[in-house]
Amino acid sequence: MQLQPHILAAIRKHAETPAQRSFYLYDTAPMRGKIKNLKALLPENVRIYYAMKANPHNAFLVAAGESDAHGIEIASLGEAQKAVDAGFSPEALIFTGPGKSPEELAWSVSNRIETVHIESLTEAHRLEAICATLGQTQDILVRVNPNFHIHGAQANFSGDSSKLGVDESRLNEILPQILALPHLNFRGLHVYSASGILEIKDLLKNCELVFNLARRVEDTYQGVRCDIIDFGGGFGIDYLETGNDFSPETYAKSLKGMIDKFGFNDRQFVLELGRYLTADSGWYCTEILDIKHSLGKKQVICAGGAHQFRRPVALGINHPLTIIPMHRPQIFEGQEVADNESVFIGGPLCNTADKLAPKDIHVDRAEIGDIAVFGLAGAYGYSMSHLDFLSHAHPLEIVLR
Ligand SMILES: Cc1ncc(COP(=O)(O)O)c(C=O)c1O
Repeated sequence: MQLQPHILAAIRKHAETPAQRSFYLYDTAPMRGKIKNLKALLPENVRIYYAMKANPHNAFLVAAGESDAHGIEIASLGEAQKAVDAGFSPEALIFTGPGKSPEELAWSVSNRIETVHIESLTEAHRLEAICATLGQTQDILVRVNPNFHIHGAQANFSGDSSKLGVDESRLNEILPQILALPHLNFRGLHVYSASGILEIKDLLKNCELVFNLARRVEDTYQGVRCDIIDFGGGFGIDYLETGNDFSPETYAKSLKGMIDKFGFNDRQFVLELGRYLTADSGWYCTEILDIKHSLGKKQVICAGGAHQFRRPVALGINHPLTIIPMHRPQIFEGQEVADNESVFIGGPLCNTADKLAPKDIHVDRAEIGDIAVFGLAGAYGYSMSHLDFLSHAHPLEIVLR
């Protein structure tokens, strides 16, 4: 992983005076560029929402706002509050996720958020009762757990028994009941099948299946129109640096072709993007506190571990690693170094699951006192970690812009 000079300089500066020995560094420039690029490439009826679960730090919300993202996909009242604090109007919020509480639904209706994405019949009835009490209607999408799997995804959410959405195979039974609720205004479907998709053909296959589903719904129920079709997130990131990166140009062109083919130009499409927008806007940096030799392998122990950067071990994916030499004084003569070898790298937790790279990883050179920098850490980094385990200080989140 090649670090840009300003990123390298910022990491060095903060590492030289370690108020804390681990930190996340954020530079939202890549995110801003990606939103602007997608907006320029995609047809106007494709709207980009930032799925803030990827990184709820205010800097990312502000970057989404300043780059004219259409709105924010929220999954809790806490996220709603953060989005509003960052300057988004509640009307720019769409609310997805299973198990929405009565309080969350009441807040959504009272604050007139754009759409609530219904995940079950219970949720539809709960929302209906809240709307009736408040004397309001609410625009909804119905989230469907489709009958298909997307090949080539890092994680599949569809095709199996799922807490997400209403099974496609039960739609004929459930959808009419939702459509009959007088305070819910059906606007369309939400189908988010898989995440971490790098192949455009896989994303396109998903679109085609969803478009066919929308057609079937419209053919089955007189007067029902899927004005909005939400594909969720899912654009992949090349964590393994294979060079097979996601191409927004090809995606935009192919999606436009698909929309034309189905004659869906008068519909609105929603993308809820998280990882793709933020991953390359963040780096997790932690000081190497110890290197030791154990049964034929070097163990590199950092100040921070899986409690601060949980994603690699949780998903079994190594993030790109760069070691920044700090040339600190030796602690004792003959102390271990890692030199052009494959090492274990982890943190200070007292368990073997504390890995910063789930698979042994090659380092050219690492010395005690150097800084291990994990790239593509802007998505699902800080907020997905279990920061209080062992009660270490939380890593700082340092924002360059
Ligand atoms: C409903 C929903 N939308 C969007 C996203 C963002 O997905 P990604 O980060 O893969 O773009 C998620 C992630 O879990 C999600 O659950």
